[in-house]
Amino acid sequence: MAPTKPTVAVTRKIPEAGLVMVREATETRLWEEELPPSPEQLAALLRGCDGALTLLTDDITGDVLDREPQLKVVSNFAVGYDNVDVPAATARGVAVCNTPDVLTETTADFAWALLMAAARRVVEGVDYVRAGKWKTWGPTLLLGRDLTGATLGIVGFGRIGREVAKRARGFDMRVLAYDTYQDPEVARSLGVTYRPLDELLREADFVTLHVALTPETQQLIGARELKLMKREAILVNAARGPVVDTDALTDALRDGTIGGAALDVTDPEPLPADHPLVFLPNAVVVPHMASATVATRDRMAETAARNLLAVLRGEQPPHIVNPEVLERANG
Ligand code: GLV
Repeated sequence: MAPTKPTVAVTRKIPEAGLVMVREATETRLWEEELPPSPEQLAALLRGCDGALTLLTDDITGDVLDREPQLKVVSNFAVGYDNVDVPAATARGVAVCNTPDVLTETTADFAWALLMAAARRVVEGVDYVRAGKWKTWGPTLLLGRDLTGATLGIVGFGRIGREVAKRARGFDMRVLAYDTYQDPEVARSLGVTYRPLDELLREADFVTLHVALTPETQQLIGARELKLMKREAILVNAARGPVVDTDALTDALRDGTIGGAALDVTDPEPLPADHPLVFLPNAVVVPHMASATVATRDRMAETAARNLLAVLRGEQPPHIVNPEVLERANG
């Protein structure tokens, strides 16, 4: 008799590149809807599963894990894993995996797309043309901010933050970085100077956020921090929505405390369609798409599948967040 395949839940349709790998090796329960499963639907989907391939929209709490004591692995299709209660998973011996590295450059590229869109008022320009307002070339029409020679402040100087810094060289920018962990050698090689957060916020013309969401970074940028920023400064968030206090940011954009914002992520997410941030001319809001290229999403799917299958086979997965779980299991 052929050995029975493990049962796994895949909580949304991921690119085929990863899905075929999972389907070949497991009994796969795929959530085929466009919207994520509700908590009740997620519980039903996970029932009796050995593994789960999850998205950042799935809340994997201690309660969810308690209901499925046979679950061995939660493989998140994202580099961020703030949707998973990692201490709870570790305590229950569940491996948590993520997809770093494969999306680093793509995400850094998109932070620049957002920064430039806000600095040069690209979205306002598109709206202007679509509204039929374009009658002539205007000497003072839609004036933006120069990047060349400006100061860029990178908050969170990990993999993605460093790629953002590399790209700033092409604009001859002065680059400052804030991080609780500092690597002077990396900073020197990229021509970046570390600064305490408040100093960075005071000095930067553009501030871009690349921290993971943790209790320490929750609302890292609130009313106080926004007031420290220059009146013309632009804030980019391609990290996680709750790193910024949404109400404080909305007020700061309305009253001119800062010049503009470009947001890949929001809190709440999705942002309600009638939220003021959607309509403010100095805000650019897009639907959490910084890693959204064909090649990168394929690589993320493959990595998430590899992580999932490796744990189920008792092998070392390419990327595990809580390696102590496997070390414990392997004695
Ligand atoms: C996307 O936001 C990710 O964490 O991969």
